[in-house]
Amino acid sequence: MSAAPESILRAPTPAAWVEDALRHVPELLQDHANCEKKAASTALALMFAYPEDRALAAPLSRLAREELRHFEQVARAMTALGVPYIRQRPGRYAQQLRTLLRTSDPGRKLDLLLTAALIEARSAERFSLLAPRLPQPLARLYAELAGAEARHFTLYVGFARDNAPQEWQERLQLLAVHEAQLATEPDAKFRFHSGPLGLPLDAPRTP
Ligand SMILES: [Fe+2]
Ligand SMILES: [Fe+2]
Repeated sequence: MSAAPESILRAPTPAAWVEDALRHVPELLQDHANCEKKAASTALALMFAYPEDRALAAPLSRLAREELRHFEQVARAMTALGVPYIRQRPGRYAQQLRTLLRTSDPGRKLDLLLTAALIEARSAERFSLLAPRLPQPLARLYAELAGAEARHFTLYVGFARDNAPQEWQERLQLLAVHEAQLATEPDAKFRFHSGPLGLPLDAPRTP
């Protein structure tokens, strides 16, 4: 069972980002491949950080394997389309989301779970937006991934609720506002989770 990504996202992806993505398909795929590896590594990091939490271990192990299969699917699509594998510097999104994470537990665990939920929900939303606009075989792949990432964000929200029944909603509100800014405000670099291309709001402006 999965919920709609919009149920936790505070702002929809701007239409301009979708148009940017369609003009930057090689960069989209290169960053998407990185995101799948990162999603697997996030699940593994949680398993290492909280080995005593048996409720997390088995679902996160399955999730990590699923993300690595997604990586293999994107990698095959890149090969089929002749998109080169290059090292790409990450955008601002994940790094800036992490600035709000609390540094000690129990708060840190809840923040890690909610941040993972938001990233998965944004991914699901963007796959759904892109699937009808991309040619095959990407359209089919992205439609399939939209469903998988929606399941993942639902799983992470469930973990957050179980871990902090009193606090999770309030904390989600705070993190979701920050996430929505990062996903919607103008961004210098196009990435899977970037804002639409433009001059960042904090960039120096000439008078
Ligand atoms: Fe994935
Ligand atoms: Fe995922």
